[in-house]
Formats: sequence, structure tokens, C-alpha cells
Amino acid sequence: MEKKLTKTIAFANNKGGSGKTTTCANVGYSLSVLGYKVLLIDGDMQLNLSLSFFSEDEVLGFASGDRNLYVAMKKEDDLTDYIVHTPYENLDLIPSSTLMSGIEYDLFTKWQREMILTKGLSAIKESGEYDYILIDAPPTLGGWVINILCASDHVILPVEASPWGLFGVANMFEFLENVRKMVPSLNLLGVVITKLDARKNYGKQTLDVLHDFEEVTVFDTVIRVDSEIEWAQDSSKPVMVHKKGARSAGEYLELAKEVDKYAGRSR
Ligand SMILES: Nc1ncnc2c1ncn2[C@@H]1O[C@H](COP(=O)(O)OP(=O)(O)OP(=O)(O)O)[C@@H](O)[C@H]1O
Ligand SMILES: [Mg+2]
Repeated sequence: MEKKLTKTIAFANNKGGSGKTTTCANVGYSLSVLGYKVLLIDGDMQLNLSLSFFSEDEVLGFASGDRNLYVAMKKEDDLTDYIVHTPYENLDLIPSSTLMSGIEYDLFTKWQREMILTKGLSAIKESGEYDYILIDAPPTLGGWVINILCASDHVILPVEASPWGLFGVANMFEFLENVRKMVPSLNLLGVVITKLDARKNYGKQTLDVLHDFEEVTVFDTVIRVDSEIEWAQDSSKPVMVHKKGARSAGEYLELAKEVDKYAGRSR
């Protein structure tokens, strides 16, 4: 088997509901459709990334069992044995647990506590099995999100096209600059505008605000509001599987191509 140069991308923004999980799940699926082998990591106690591919019963089974991210992080284990296959070819997942709510406390006493996830992923990266590892971060900015960023080559910032979506973006950039003091190689791949509602006409305002940050790339692809997304999530499926012709399915595929173009550029 050809060894792959794995690229790890975190989806992060401390603003809740900005579209991190939906973007991570659907870009992940789209990258697998494009022929890449993808590992998704559910880094949030809300279990939403896991629920994007598995039923509630299955997700609660993972969460209460011994094959989830929380157990692995607590034991400082190699994550290889925690991978589960999704129903889709080339798409695997490490599920989360509601116990992740206590991860900050658990990390506190650990030696080199920012690097626990990095160490847990090292064997998977060295194996060259995956083209992409995508990590869904929770809406916080503590030690656990720093762990996620330390383990990543790139970060994507989903920003909701709304006044409150934009509020705090500058703080997020500042936070990333501080993390970069620890991991200079961490690259802000770009900002993706999500949940754009054409009726509200807030897209131009969003772009104007984001363009004030000259160093920041804004993805050309914008994810508009699409009611099919919630129906897809209701059936634990990527939107492209739920409804192939859905507008957002096409947008996520285009976004995945852009992600691949930018992440590939630095390979
Ligand atoms: N393009 C879209 N169109 C319509 N609804 C969307 C879209 N993107 C996301 N949503 C909905 O918005 C809500 C928040 O999205 P999501 O859970 O992906 O955000 P998040 O940033 O991961 O949230 P959290 O901060 O809680 O982890 C969800 O209910 C999701 O179904
Ligand atoms: Mg989420």
C-alpha cells in the first residue's frame, strides 16, 4: 500500500453553532467521495459528529463503552484501536463521549498536557493510512482545543454570516496566534462562511468584515442555509447521501475541492 502524507485539519471556533460539525462531517464525506481516505475525530462531548454517521443508539453505545476518544485520552493511548468504520467507503471515525465534559480536569495533571492528542495520533499518521484527518472541536478555547490545534497542520474557521457570528472572530484569530507560538507550523487554512441566508442579505457585510483581516483566506465557496441539512442530520447521513441534488451537497463538494487545493499546496 502506498504510504500517504496525512494532513490533519481542525474545525474550530469558540462561537457555538457556527457550523463546525456540519462542515467537518460533510467536507469529510466529500473528500472521501473525491477518492481520499479520511479519518474523522469527534472532539466534542455533544457527540454531533458521531451522530452525523451513526444512530443515537450506536453513538450512545460508543460513548458508554471503552472505544471512544475520552477513554483513549484519559489512558494516553494510541488511537489506532479506537477507529470505527462508518457505513461509507474510505471514511472512518473516532467517536466521542459525554464524559469529554471533564477532559479539562483530566488533562490538568498530565505531563506535557497539550500534546496528549498529538501523541495519540502519531502512530496513525506514521502508518500513512489516511490522506486526511479532520477533527471537530467543541465551542471552547481551553486546554483541550489547544490539544486539537497542536495535533493539526491546518485549522478551518467556520463563521456564521450574522452579526454575532462575526463578533469574536478577531479574538479567535488572536487565540490562534498565541497557539502558533507553541506550534509555529499551525496554518489557518481559511475562513468558511456558513449558514448564509440570502433573504437577510448579510453576505456582503460578512465578507467586508473578514476582508479587513488581510492575512486571512476566505474560501470562495459559501455554505448557504439549506433545510435539507437538518433532515440529513435527522437520519444520521451526510447531506449528499440524504439528497444527492441538495444545494448544500454541491457546496460541500466544492468546499472540499478548495480545502484539498489549499492543504495540498503545502504538501
Ligand atoms: N448550511 C446550513 N443550513 C441550515 N442549517 C445549518 C447549516 N449548517 C448548520 N446548520 C444547523 O445549525 C446548527 C449548528 O450547526 P453545527 O452543529 O454544525 O455548529 P457547531 O459550530 O458545530 O455547533 P457547536 O458549537 O455547538 O459545536 C445545527 O442545528 C445544524 O443543523
Ligand atoms: Mg459542533
